[in-house]
Amino acid sequence: MSDSSLFSQIQQAPPDPILGLTEAFNADQNPKKVTLGVGVYQNSTGKVPVLTSVRHAEARWFEQETTKSYLPIDGVAAYNKAVQILLLGADSPRIAQNQTVTVQTLGGTGALKIGADFLKNFFNQSTVWISNPSWENHRQIFQSAGFPVQTYPYYDPKTNGLDFDGMYNTIKNLPAKSIVLLHACCHNPTGVDPTPEQWTKLVELSKTHDLIPFIDFAYQGFGDGIEEDAFALRSFAQANISCLIANSFSKSMSLYRERVGALTILTDDADESKRVLSQLKRIIRTNYSNPPAHGAQVAALILNDEKLRAQWEIEVAQMRNRIQQMRTEFVKTLSANGVKQNFDFITQQKGMFSYTGLSKETVHKLRNQFALYLVDSGRACIAAMNEKNLPYICQSIASVLKE
Ligand code: LMR
Repeated sequence: MSDSSLFSQIQQAPPDPILGLTEAFNADQNPKKVTLGVGVYQNSTGKVPVLTSVRHAEARWFEQETTKSYLPIDGVAAYNKAVQILLLGADSPRIAQNQTVTVQTLGGTGALKIGADFLKNFFNQSTVWISNPSWENHRQIFQSAGFPVQTYPYYDPKTNGLDFDGMYNTIKNLPAKSIVLLHACCHNPTGVDPTPEQWTKLVELSKTHDLIPFIDFAYQGFGDGIEEDAFALRSFAQANISCLIANSFSKSMSLYRERVGALTILTDDADESKRVLSQLKRIIRTNYSNPPAHGAQVAALILNDEKLRAQWEIEVAQMRNRIQQMRTEFVKTLSANGVKQNFDFITQQKGMFSYTGLSKETVHKLRNQFALYLVDSGRACIAAMNEKNLPYICQSIASVLKE
């Protein structure tokens, strides 16, 4: 490479804290390697399943599909409608009064980015507030949209629970039109969620302080249930708050690589909805023109067909229950391997992840000595555990903690 070459001044970017870990894991030659890095659900045999409801919907779609022409800029209409109902409930007045705008996006990440670009166009002076800690990609997404990003207190390592007072008091002092990123359920990375009473207080606060809530809803059905997990965003909707919701079917339909998500914006009235939609379409058009069809068509079939929907609900419950079971087994097996620390809090956390409290140093030892991969923050994907890999996982952790 000569100094005069076009890209000679370009520095190496750091690997992604989550997907970079998958790259390192794939390159690891250790036959015993296990990854608890990326948030991907695996079944009891360690496979990332194609759900039966998805297989049936795909077969049906294969028969039905008549063209590969472009989709509209905002995606599959039947999908967008079904998403609104799934999020807000069939009887939501916000839907009936056309106060709900939904566009199909490339997964939940795509929804966050389209939402971030939209907000940047109209709330240029705002700061984005994310939880401490938050999903590693949140900060980067909002920074790349041009926002300063700050954090509000969230996780309390002393109690392994929520620092609600810290969170509430910080948010209470934010200037109007601050953008507050909230995780609707199954907080990533901690698995610690506000209670319904605490959500009600946050909704009040958003209203009285004129904040812009941006609700990330990537794990619907993995916490307490498909309907139950929508509590937070339905509370915002009922309070007539204008807000943004990013949702995803990567996890709940195991459609990761199909990139099926949506951005929903709750507005004040039908006219506002029309204008908001027109702006979202501009952003999409100048980024990727219009979305791919397959995943959204499959999701729409599942959500709109009674039988497929029932099958899917069973499958979501199976995934949720298996993760919960693995939480219990994980804590039991750690203890059976002589770990003295109390990890009972792991059974209280919700969703795919657990914030184990393991230090970065421990995480690196696990990676280097045992080819066991966790995110540097100590986050472990419980949804990647199974009866076969659990003994090795727990032996490795026990052995490093005893050093
Ligand atoms: C995760 O947090 O592991 C998942 O949401 C996958 C991702 O894109 O990071």
